[in-house]
Amino acid sequence: MILQRRNRILRATPAIRAMVAETIVTPNDFIAPLFIDEGENIKTEIASMPGYYRNSLDITVKEVKELWSLGIKCVLLFIKCKDELKDNTGKEAWNKNGLMQRSIKAIKDAVPEMYVMTDVALDPYSSYGHDGIVENGEIINDPTVEALVKMSISHAEAGVDMVAPSDMMDGRIGAIRAGLEQSNFTKTGIMAYSAKYASCFYGPFRDALESAPGFGDKKTYQMDPANRTEAVKEAIMDVEEGADIVMVKPGLPYLDILRDVKNAVDVPVSVYNISGEYAMIKAAAQRGWINEDKAIIETLTSFKRAGADLIATYFAKDAAKLLGQ
Ligand code: PBG
Repeated sequence: MILQRRNRILRATPAIRAMVAETIVTPNDFIAPLFIDEGENIKTEIASMPGYYRNSLDITVKEVKELWSLGIKCVLLFIKCKDELKDNTGKEAWNKNGLMQRSIKAIKDAVPEMYVMTDVALDPYSSYGHDGIVENGEIINDPTVEALVKMSISHAEAGVDMVAPSDMMDGRIGAIRAGLEQSNFTKTGIMAYSAKYASCFYGPFRDALESAPGFGDKKTYQMDPANRTEAVKEAIMDVEEGADIVMVKPGLPYLDILRDVKNAVDVPVSVYNISGEYAMIKAAAQRGWINEDKAIIETLTSFKRAGADLIATYFAKDAAKLLGQ
């Protein structure tokens, strides 16, 4: 054959493949989610997330040091609230001495350079397991936004770098920005979970925090998986309201949305490689059906290729180790 162009030339050796790779994943891209529990020296494996743990704060601080040493620059904190502190107002969420507030301080004291983000939503604190306040079986928007503003300010007081509202209430980004400004937290950022879908893939996360909704589902606030244009609308509105970073969540089933949002906004875009996506890779790898290490890197590469600037992923530590080899 006499061919004019031979595409395999650029695939022939590891050197040329590395030279022409269009997408590069580094630990700088990672946001490591951490689940924090009360107590001391407690490390509980999450049943539906093999190899991932909910840790007491002392162990979490050690973990953060290790993550920093591996080149990971950012952690995203979630806490498991005790049942007796849960109610329908979510007021434990802005308790100055709450587990979240203590965790932010302890992590910032131990590793000041680590960029600390916190999840902002009422579900871990809600007796109903919903992201907002419930009235007559409905999740009511405006009073929930007031609660989220208090929660965000209290995280800022504890020293958080960026709050990450994951509740999908209307108007919360603008309200949180205004609340932070009025309280003089002009350096605290907002990463908006802008396009967050009502997904079945959150199941393992809800096991981790025991935060599954007590009634109904989250479809009146999280997005319909059928919708695409709406994700762009959500992201653009959040940027207008003051979001510094916008997120698409889940990740793998929504790579098209990630690309659409990336093309539509002028702020960095993050993606959340969520608990169910972690569980699927782990489960298949445990059965010997896929190669775990390769699946991790291929998955993370797909997010970068689709347009993610940042990736929240339970594989952050494993991937940092793999990339460092
Ligand atoms: C809470 C929240 C959820 C996740 C992040 N923040 C669960 C939910 O909305 O029900 C999911 C993370 C994951 O599945 O890894 N608002």
